[in-house]
Amino acid sequence: MTIPFSTPPAVAWASGFFSHGPLRCKSTTIADLAGVFASSDAWQKEDPARIVYQVEMLDSLQGEGELYVGVTHLYPGHIGHEFFMTRGHFHARREQGEVYFGLRGEGMLLLQTEQGQARLEKVQPGSVHIISAYTAHRLINTGQTTLSALAVWPAIAGHDYQALKHGFALRLFAKDGGVAVNEVRYG
Ligand code: PA5
Ligand code: NI
Repeated sequence: MTIPFSTPPAVAWASGFFSHGPLRCKSTTIADLAGVFASSDAWQKEDPARIVYQVEMLDSLQGEGELYVGVTHLYPGHIGHEFFMTRGHFHARREQGEVYFGLRGEGMLLLQTEQGQARLEKVQPGSVHIISAYTAHRLINTGQTTLSALAVWPAIAGHDYQALKHGFALRLFAKDGGVAVNEVRYG
């Protein structure tokens, strides 16, 4: 007897690349990240077309109850001494969480509550990060190779970038071959 089945897309755990689609891809360049890094002088000296990160996601069903799956590839680099990072966001639907899985490279997941309390989780191959509701999140590549992380999130979650236009409460810089964490004070 032949059992009918279909072969869903596969993800190569070592690289984070999907075997087949349908896929949606988005690249974010230095030019797209105006105002995100601490030093605007250093940001202006960079090639605006340089890609900081790429997100590849399965073009799956939308709507209440559906899930999106995507992989972020965050390249190694600095703006001044500040490590490359994603823009970071709250979900537009604040009550919706997300899960990140570290695939390759090393870095940090910066998490921040609506009250502005920030904390870091180390991202490495195999790490599992539960991003609770009402929590903003940003990936930071503190290593010298591509940091890739797989994410699963509710299709209805949406992105709110505006709420963090003044940035997160922590910034990570390269210092003496290691990582320095700076607290940011606003106002
Ligand atoms: O859903 C997520 O949280 C990720 O897929 C991010 O969107 C991805 O890492 C890119 O980050 P940002 O949306 O903050 O630019
Ligand atoms: Ni998210």
